[in-house]
Amino acid sequence: MKVLLKNAGRIITVDTKGKNYKTGKELESIGALENHSILIENGIIKDILNFRSSVKVKSEKVIDLKGKLLLPGLVECHTHTAFAGSRANEFLMRLNGTTYEEIAKSGGGIISTVKAVRQSTFEELIKIIRPRIDYFISQGITTLEIKSGYGLSYYDEIKLLQVIDFFRKSLTIDIVPTFLGAHTFPPEYKNDHKSYLKLITEELLPFIFKNKLAEFVDAFCEKGAFNSAEVDLIFSIAKDLGYKLRLHTEQFNNIGGLDIALKHKALSVDHLEMLSDQDISKLSSPEIVSVLLPGVSFFLDYNYAPARKLIENGACVAISTDYNPGSCNIPSLHFIMSLAALKLKMNAEEIISAVTINSAKALDLHTKLGSIEIGKQADFSVFDIKDHSEIIYNIGQNLNVMTIKKGEIIYQRNTEN
Ligand code: NIG
Ligand code: FE
Repeated sequence: MKVLLKNAGRIITVDTKGKNYKTGKELESIGALENHSILIENGIIKDILNFRSSVKVKSEKVIDLKGKLLLPGLVECHTHTAFAGSRANEFLMRLNGTTYEEIAKSGGGIISTVKAVRQSTFEELIKIIRPRIDYFISQGITTLEIKSGYGLSYYDEIKLLQVIDFFRKSLTIDIVPTFLGAHTFPPEYKNDHKSYLKLITEELLPFIFKNKLAEFVDAFCEKGAFNSAEVDLIFSIAKDLGYKLRLHTEQFNNIGGLDIALKHKALSVDHLEMLSDQDISKLSSPEIVSVLLPGVSFFLDYNYAPARKLIENGACVAISTDYNPGSCNIPSLHFIMSLAALKLKMNAEEIISAVTINSAKALDLHTKLGSIEIGKQADFSVFDIKDHSEIIYNIGQNLNVMTIKKGEIIYQRNTEN
């Protein structure tokens, strides 16, 4: 089936010239095209044609973009969307001066969400999570990563991954499941880390891999969560099994997570709010993506990651919401893009590269999607604006009006009247 996308006011291709990621100055070149159409064949970008040649093209279907702005489908590469319950009480505690870490130490935090998830059935979780995914799709997100990490028992981690798998199989967007059993130690193993590590490495990791419930393994390397030796052990075994790796690290402290991620060739390190100056150069390689989550700094009101220094040193920077109930209850990637401008001091072009091709790189999908290049998946977001700077300027507003996945419209909002 051939589909022609025509009459875009402008197309932001995020062209990488076949390289499939952007570092340094490249982040700013987002390949704006005018008077061009896109020919899609069987869900793949077949051609990018100038106006004259597209007039002659035959297609079964035409999508008229009526002067709107066409971008690659946005890639949301770090979320904890699979949760139940509310932590509004903890939010209020923090407003009164208790810190996120103090709440976690006293048995709240991640553990309070674990309790809510354990009490929820598979069907209840499906009902709770579905509208969250719909909201991501309405923002122009066509690829979405979702982590487990709020079950923390054999049964409940698998239950969460099965919920994510249900969406992966039934929805048209790409959903990338990540196993985050090493999120924190559950109460029953609080004083027996060894046994929980055994449960992860000997039971959960092999079962999940064998049943294709996750392709990625993530962990939280932090005081009060997993230390670097524990992450080292999990990563060694996960890697041998065939998983790809990512790591939450340098969020509140600097306890050796970065070196473990580098040692195991993790695809990304996420957070980095406490990244030290001497460690910045360790990320000067496209081999590892630095996933920055400015919504967490905003929600918890603390340090922002050193985005400018990372970009200046050649890091491959991506941006994501980290949507979760405790440290960033913000599911708007557009709002996070505005924060990246205001607080990370990234410019509008860098931010677009960070939420498209570089986020795809963090998920190892960069050769397949993340930019508008011939041969890639026909995934697009369509914004009702003339210039891409409107996205970060209109803070918290959803100006995406159409989401296209593999050449098919999966979301559309009428803006005519
Ligand atoms: O990425 N840092 C660890 N995990 C999440 C927060 C989880 C929670 O508070 O529920 C994060 O910030
Ligand atoms: Fe996270």
